[in-house]
Amino acid sequence: MTVPSETPLAVITGASSGIGYALAEQFATNGFDVVIAAEDEELRTAAESLGAHGRSVLPVRCDLATERGVEQLCAAIAATGRPVDSLALNAGVGVGGPFVETDLRAELNLLALNITSPVVLAKRLLPDMVARGHGRVLFTSSIAATAPGPFYATYAASKAFLYSLSESIRDELKGTGVTVTALMPGPTDTEFFARAGMEDTRAGETAHKDDPADVAERGFKALMAGKHHVVAASFVNKAMVASGRLMPEPAKAAMQRRLTEPGKGDDDKDRNGRC
Ligand SMILES: NC(=O)c1ccc[n+]([C@@H]2O[C@H](COP(=O)([O-])OP(=O)(O)OC[C@H]3O[C@@H](n4cnc5c(N)ncnc54)[C@H](OP(=O)(O)O)[C@@H]3O)[C@@H](O)[C@H]2O)c1
Repeated sequence: MTVPSETPLAVITGASSGIGYALAEQFATNGFDVVIAAEDEELRTAAESLGAHGRSVLPVRCDLATERGVEQLCAAIAATGRPVDSLALNAGVGVGGPFVETDLRAELNLLALNITSPVVLAKRLLPDMVARGHGRVLFTSSIAATAPGPFYATYAASKAFLYSLSESIRDELKGTGVTVTALMPGPTDTEFFARAGMEDTRAGETAHKDDPADVAERGFKALMAGKHHVVAASFVNKAMVASGRLMPEPAKAAMQRRLTEPGKGDDDKDRNGRC
C-alpha cells in the first residue's frame, strides 16, 4: 500500500557521480524527495551533499548489475510506502577496446547493468504509475545509440537498445498519463571514459566534453515536459547526429572508429565523439 504524500518522490540510479548525481540535484532542487542508488561508498557523500537542498534523501547501495542488487533497490523503494513520481534509469558503464580482446565478464556486467537492470526496474515500477495515471521515466541513453560503435561495441548497442525501448514503451503508454523520455548525452565530463578504459581514444581526449550539470538540466526539463527524447550535447555533436541520419551504417562505423579506437588519442583537442 502506498502512503499519500505532498512531496513527489524520484528514484535515480547511478547517482553517486556524473550525470546521475546532477540529475538527483535537479530533482532535489525542484521539490522532489529522492531515492538514490549506486554501488560504492561515494554514494554516502553524494547523499550528504544532496541533503543540503532540504529534501529527504535515501541512499541505497546496491550492485545493479546483479539480480540481488536490483531487488534491494525495489525493496527499498517499496519500504518508503510512497508512489514513485519519476524514475531516472541512469546507471551505466562502458567497456572500451577491440571486441575480440575485451573481458567477457566486463561485457556481461555491462549488459546486466545497462540493459537488464533498467528493463527490470521499469517493469517493476511502471504498472503502479499506469494504475495511478501519472508518472515519468527517464532512460539515460546516449548519442552513441545513433551509430555503430567500433571499440565499444556492446556499449553502443546497449544505448541503442535503451533508445528503442524508451520510444517503444512511450508509444505503448500514450494516453495513460505516464511519459517516457530518452536522455541522449554526447561526451560529458564524468568518470565514464576512465572507467571504460577509453582515455586513450580521441573521444576520451576531446576538449568538448559537456558539463554533467547542463546535461542533467536538459534531461530534467525534457522529462518534466514529457518529451520523447532530448539530445543533450554540443552543437557539433548534434550536427553529427543529424548528418548521421543520412549516412549508411558502414560509413557511420568508419567515422566512429576514428573517435573510439584505442591508442589514437592525440593532441588534437578539437575532435568530438559519441559516448
Ligand atoms: N559521460 C559521457 O560522456 C556519457 C555520454 C552519454 C551517455 N552517458 C551515460 O550516462 C550515464 C551516467 O554515466 P556518467 O557519465 O555520469 O558516468 P559516471 O560518473 O561513471 O557514473 C556512473 C554511475 O553509475 C553507477 N554504477 C556503475 N556501476 C554500477 C553498478 N554495478 N551498480 C550500481 N550503480 C553502478 C556509478 O556508481 P558507483 O561508482 O557506485 O559504481 C555511478 O553513480 C551512463 O548510463 C552512461 O552510459 C555518459
